[in-house]
Amino acid sequence: MTNALTVDVHLDPDWFERTLRADVLEGLTGSFKELPPKWFYDDRGSALFDQITRLDEYYPTEAERTILRARADEIAITSGADTLVELGSGTADKTRVLLDAMARIGRLDRYVPFDVSEGILRSSSLELITEYPGLRVEGVVGDFEHHLDQVPGGGRRVIALLGGTIGNFGPVGRKALLTDVVSGMQRGDTFLLGTDLVKDTGRLVAAYDDSQGVTAEFNKNVLHVLNRRLNADFEPDRFEHVARFDDTDEWMDLRLRSLEDQTVRIADLDLDVHFARGEEMRTEISAKFRRDGVAKELAAVGLELERWWTDPAGDYALSLSSLR
Ligand code: SAH
Ligand code: TRP
Repeated sequence: MTNALTVDVHLDPDWFERTLRADVLEGLTGSFKELPPKWFYDDRGSALFDQITRLDEYYPTEAERTILRARADEIAITSGADTLVELGSGTADKTRVLLDAMARIGRLDRYVPFDVSEGILRSSSLELITEYPGLRVEGVVGDFEHHLDQVPGGGRRVIALLGGTIGNFGPVGRKALLTDVVSGMQRGDTFLLGTDLVKDTGRLVAAYDDSQGVTAEFNKNVLHVLNRRLNADFEPDRFEHVARFDDTDEWMDLRLRSLEDQTVRIADLDLDVHFARGEEMRTEISAKFRRDGVAKELAAVGLELERWWTDPAGDYALSLSSLR
């Protein structure tokens, strides 16, 4: 029992501070302001995201769960995996559907959650070792843009990237991330990818601008993170949440718009950042996909799309691919 859970922290104690500083300096001093999305997910951000996944308007979570329920046995059998690696595992809620299927065919040995947020990784891992007696959990706290080489090998693995997280990267970032995933794959490993699909703009916008304002609060959470970690003095009420669909790039473009002309002090960087009234800062993109595009992006890094499943409404897709 005692060694059922290990958590490997690959973010040295000041990694967080160092990287945050560099990102903020780079992102807020140019003419177009932008912050990388990983800073949303402190404990409060992870809790707010969990709330988002329960909103009626935020369809991706339920759509993905529906597909997983229908296909988990097929995934377990065709992959033959004994290990589930999950990148950006969060609360690992839907993950249980896959673990159950692997357990049903008697193959389940190990779960490897990988997340930048240590708090959520530890709490979900603790739940899982009690729910699945005999399961070994080898958590990795790291940034999947930098530390994918820390994912433990061995066994036969399904490597999952769910929740549409791949869409939070632009084409260049996606290629880099997929390349890293592939370089860590061994023959026999399988890649399971969740992608949100292009659809009616109204529904897309509602999913990222819900009527209860949870997504707005989540978006503004990054300002709280900067206040706490860098001694900044952002007043979140002086910004508003903006969610638009960009139909050229086919991504949701999420921003914070300054409601007034203001200057924010970021003490730890000795930096004053000016925002004009109406000026926007990009905090996230969430790309929406089509089957051909996904197949092409996978092929470009040496993966062959083997299965493609959508929910009945065709809102969301799960795909299985392996090394060519
Ligand atoms: N897979 C879950 C959670 C998706 S939210 C689901 O489908 O619901 C995205 C998750 O990825 C969060 O838990 C966040 O902490 C994590 N994450 C975001 N950027 C990351 C990064 N660069 N490295 C590692 N984890 C990251
Ligand atoms: N991976 C999720 C998505 O793209 C993350 C997400 C959901 C998100 N809602 C958000 C990110 C709102 C920023 C703001 O759907």
